[in-house]
Amino acid sequence: VITVPVALGDRSYDVLVGPGARYRLLEVLPVGARRAAIVTQAAVGVAVDAGVEQHVFEIDEGEDAKCLETVEDLCRRWVKWGLTRGDVVVAVGGGVVTDTAGFAASVYHRGVPVIHVATTLLGQVDAAIGGKTGVNLPEGKNLVGAFWQPHAVLCDTEVLASLPVREYRSGCGEMAKYAFLGVEGLRDLPLDVAVAACVTCKADVVAADEREDPANRTGRAILNYGHTLAHALETAGGYDLRHGEAVAIGLVFAARLARRLGRIDQARVEEHRSVVHAYDLPSRLPPGTDETEILMLMAQDKKAVEGMTFVLDGPAGVQVVTGVAPGAVVETLEEMR
Ligand SMILES: NC(=O)c1ccc[n+]([C@@H]2O[C@H](COP(=O)([O-])OP(=O)(O)OC[C@H]3O[C@@H](n4cnc5c(N)ncnc54)[C@H](O)[C@@H]3O)[C@@H](O)[C@H]2O)c1
Repeated sequence: VITVPVALGDRSYDVLVGPGARYRLLEVLPVGARRAAIVTQAAVGVAVDAGVEQHVFEIDEGEDAKCLETVEDLCRRWVKWGLTRGDVVVAVGGGVVTDTAGFAASVYHRGVPVIHVATTLLGQVDAAIGGKTGVNLPEGKNLVGAFWQPHAVLCDTEVLASLPVREYRSGCGEMAKYAFLGVEGLRDLPLDVAVAACVTCKADVVAADEREDPANRTGRAILNYGHTLAHALETAGGYDLRHGEAVAIGLVFAARLARRLGRIDQARVEEHRSVVHAYDLPSRLPPGTDETEILMLMAQDKKAVEGMTFVLDGPAGVQVVTGVAPGAVVETLEEMR
């Protein structure tokens, strides 16, 4: 098991990555915790042993369950069970579970420690790391949330064996992103080493810019590489895309746009395509994409300040680029049909 530290002063913690990491829960438990509220979904099927009195609180599947109602429901069940601030919440699942349980933990009794046991590839390389928690509103995804760093994160690569193929591939979309944020040779590494390399990359970015300072063009915002188009495709809906699949298309789009703006050469675009294809992920827009709608959604993206804003590769690496002409965006979208 590989230990990756996330250096955040008095909020620092370790991410343990590798086969059997879930059995290390007892040793990362906060000192003095007498009870562990285990939050998970029936489909996850990963049992954990906190070594103290524990009770399992199941939540429903999917983005619809990632909502304020689930947070209220969890908090009320925790009160009935007698969970206190000195105890611990253990989220066992993918991003839906860790985002929802993490947010509930951040507000329950004004904050109770949470440990994430990430059981999807996407959760292990991304969602469980870095302290962003939150839920959806009917008006949009992740609109209510908090920064709440976990007490520890366990990424047991053994449990990925039971993941549906499509969920695994979705995680590969986020891994592909790290290939362009400076993680080298990812595809040639054993799975646990590859996951640890992605976690290390995210940990370093988060340690340098925990709260995503809007003025920092090379800070936490670069983790959104490929995500501007991905979010638009997900919001437009009706395309039946998993998050990582949308990110894969978004990465190739970002590369083509950067090429059009003269920031990178054609060889670098090909590199994006080849990484995405190696993970068996899509690189073109889904058939029937309404480009006008996608353009409008991307212009509304919360990062839009002056003109259109994207995270783009360039001579100095990936960074936030503002003032992108909508014409270049439209032409790039057309090229991706
Ligand atoms: N907080 C962050 O920084 C961050 C980053 C990226 C994504 N996210 C969020 O993560 C969510 C997506 O997460 P996800 O892709 O993990 O999806 P998910 O949590 O919905 O999990 C996918 C499916 O796999 C099942 N599952 C989980 N582990 C399993 C296992 N080991 N074996 C078999 N089945 C298993 C789940 O029950 C679910 O049906 C989104 O809501 C997204 O907004 C958050």
